[in-house]
Amino acid sequence: MERLQKVIANRGYTSRRKAEQLILEGKVKVNGVVVKELGIKVSDKDEIEVEGIPLTKEEKVYYVINKPRGTICAVSDDKNRPVVVDFLHKNGVKERIYPVGRLDYDTSGVLLLTNDGELTNLLTHPKSQIEKTYLVRCEGIVNNHDLMRLRTGVLIDGYLTQKAKVELLSVDKKNKSSQVRITITEGKYHQVKKMFEAINHPVKKLRRERFAFLDVEGLKPGEFRKLKIHEVKQLYVLARFKEPHKRKGYKIRRY
Ligand code: URA
Repeated sequence: MERLQKVIANRGYTSRRKAEQLILEGKVKVNGVVVKELGIKVSDKDEIEVEGIPLTKEEKVYYVINKPRGTICAVSDDKNRPVVVDFLHKNGVKERIYPVGRLDYDTSGVLLLTNDGELTNLLTHPKSQIEKTYLVRCEGIVNNHDLMRLRTGVLIDGYLTQKAKVELLSVDKKNKSSQVRITITEGKYHQVKKMFEAINHPVKKLRRERFAFLDVEGLKPGEFRKLKIHEVKQLYVLARFKEPHKRKGYKIRRY
């Protein structure tokens, strides 16, 4: 048995002093019951929740990687192609982590990896409406009508996509291609590629620039970093509340 504040600190949630403060503020639950005394001791069997985030025995880890093109978004591949978790395991990460959602083999960019099943479920649930921003190089010259269709919704496999934020960044008249930034809140299979197929501008190159507020600035393809605790907390907040304007501390990004 160990003191509650020590267990919270040991599991990497916050410092012992901050844990004491959280307990006094009534933000800690043990087995579903709010605990406000500092003296309480807990065992491995007790379920602890801090600010709504469950603490489990295995330390939870969270990474963001700049996924290189030509890697599989999985923990293993039956065709022996490079898998994204290898980059972390070869560089000292011991935990059994897995990607949150999927990026295609030929898509690069922001990918979250964790061993936190609860956060994964929340973030990948359609209701979470997490914003994912992609940079698209597509065939042909995209016009205003195409942009409007992407914004208001196109039919993919009989499904009407939800509203998207779409911005035309550049057109290359010589190579007959366009660059578009699109932000979607869904995660259907091959969604971006199918949306651009629906407007007859197939995707040539795809990169995820942002997942919620996370980007990979400063990380080369294959490089990764650990998320900061405040970033993990913010992901929990975003995933639990559906309406962006009601999310505490949520900054609306200008496009
Ligand atoms: N949409 C796609 O079509 N592919 C991805 O990898 C991600 C989103």
